[in-house]
Amino acid sequence: MTFCARCGESKDRGGHGECDQRLALEPPRHCEICGRRMVVKVTPLSWTARCSRHGVIDPTTSTADDLLARDARHVWHPYAPMPPTMTPYVVDSAAGVRLRLRDGRELVDGMSSWWAAIHGYRHPVLDAAVTDQLGRMAHVMFGGLTHEPAVRLATRLAELAPGDIDRVFLCDSGSVSVEVAIKLALQYWQERGRPGKHRLLSLRGGYHGDTFAAMSVCDPVDGMHHLFSNVLPQQAFLSRPPGGVERPVDPVWVDEARAVFATQAGELAAVICEPMVQGAGGMHFYNSGYLAVLRELCDEYDVLLILDEIATGFGRTAHLFATLAAGVTPDIMCVGKALTGGYLSLAATMTTGHVAETVSSGAAGALLHGPTFMGNPLACAVAAANLDLLTGRDWQADVRGIETRLSEGLEPARHLPGVADVRVLGAIGVVQTTGPVDVVAATEAAIERGVWLRPFRDLIYTMPPYVCSPQDVDCIAEAVVAAAKAGAA
Ligand SMILES: Cc1ncc(COP(=O)(O)O)c(C=O)c1O
Repeated sequence: MTFCARCGESKDRGGHGECDQRLALEPPRHCEICGRRMVVKVTPLSWTARCSRHGVIDPTTSTADDLLARDARHVWHPYAPMPPTMTPYVVDSAAGVRLRLRDGRELVDGMSSWWAAIHGYRHPVLDAAVTDQLGRMAHVMFGGLTHEPAVRLATRLAELAPGDIDRVFLCDSGSVSVEVAIKLALQYWQERGRPGKHRLLSLRGGYHGDTFAAMSVCDPVDGMHHLFSNVLPQQAFLSRPPGGVERPVDPVWVDEARAVFATQAGELAAVICEPMVQGAGGMHFYNSGYLAVLRELCDEYDVLLILDEIATGFGRTAHLFATLAAGVTPDIMCVGKALTGGYLSLAATMTTGHVAETVSSGAAGALLHGPTFMGNPLACAVAAANLDLLTGRDWQADVRGIETRLSEGLEPARHLPGVADVRVLGAIGVVQTTGPVDVVAATEAAIERGVWLRPFRDLIYTMPPYVCSPQDVDCIAEAVVAAAKAGAA
């Protein structure tokens, strides 16, 4: 039996003669959700198929099987082999805090798309910011030109940043903003006539991105140093502060830090660290008092302080920036991830007038960096709207509410076999296991409970969108516990 490509009816029942040629090209389509035959509409250039119940598919998305076959052949996923060993889930759309999979299942996003989608998906204010800006221009080069979205965003960031941090260098991604921060620090000391200060001091267990300078300051054991040891700049490392946000600052660590400064400050351009939360390096939480110690040592030994707020920035720890918990102002600060509410890739390296002017007054006369898509207007417009949205609501109450519910909801995981620790800070909840998590089993267990999680190493963790309802947060917490039951070693 053949089907009319226009109306989807059996050709035996008559119909559209002119479709015959298309029939050979386009086989009948059946809805992947309910199995109903879909009505196929053919235009000279393309076709679409509509299920009366579940809407439209178009030829670019094709069926889930087609899509996954092409994905496996052509698409390289993060930290994944090629061809892949795990099949990804196909997302068709997302709205509010839910992802809609191709098979019709809806999942509460427990990951905020890797810390970014703090206001969830398809937020009307953020959608409008993008579409309004699209009506003016999607992009324009930033050398010699400027525009309102970039100026608005930079002004807003300067207002929100701690202390006298008010100079903003816009860039494409978190890793690039770390590159820029390192470059700023190195240029700063060159312009001050001390080129010997060329090394970075980083905390063990840190993660700052995947580009080369950023990699060089990631944890030297768990990072990628062993693969690139011949080319990575050699940096200095300091033990990470002991875990526990409430645990008093350890004088032994302070002595160690002081000894490193005392012996190496002549070579140190800057210290770089993630304030309060080391994210991808182990979801390690530490007392913000250590930042005050680092600030003091940096001042005493003439070293710049770079704080990487890419994961922690914009409220995740219940402080707008984690450094505010310690009342510390860094010399350079990196932000990204939640900056655009997860809409577009954008980051910023921010610094003080002193650092900016020192770098600019030297022989080079400028910071030697300038990405093609610097200050992309679409990204700046949505970032500015996102910051207004964040500061225009009681985000702290939202984050504290999530903290309370996650603390209660994750408690049952504490006594599960294979669980080493359970910890919560702001809108971040972590179950740490005693061995590597069975990622497939843990992910499936969460999906069965209607939640998207992405465990790694020995961590099953969540950082929900701030706009999650209490029920959504409870649901996420249950899913984390279920994932720990299924995936803990
Ligand atoms: C603290 C920190 N710094 C830098 C980065 C790198 O950011 P991006 O992935 O946008 O390059 C990340 C990403 O996870 C991060 O968590």
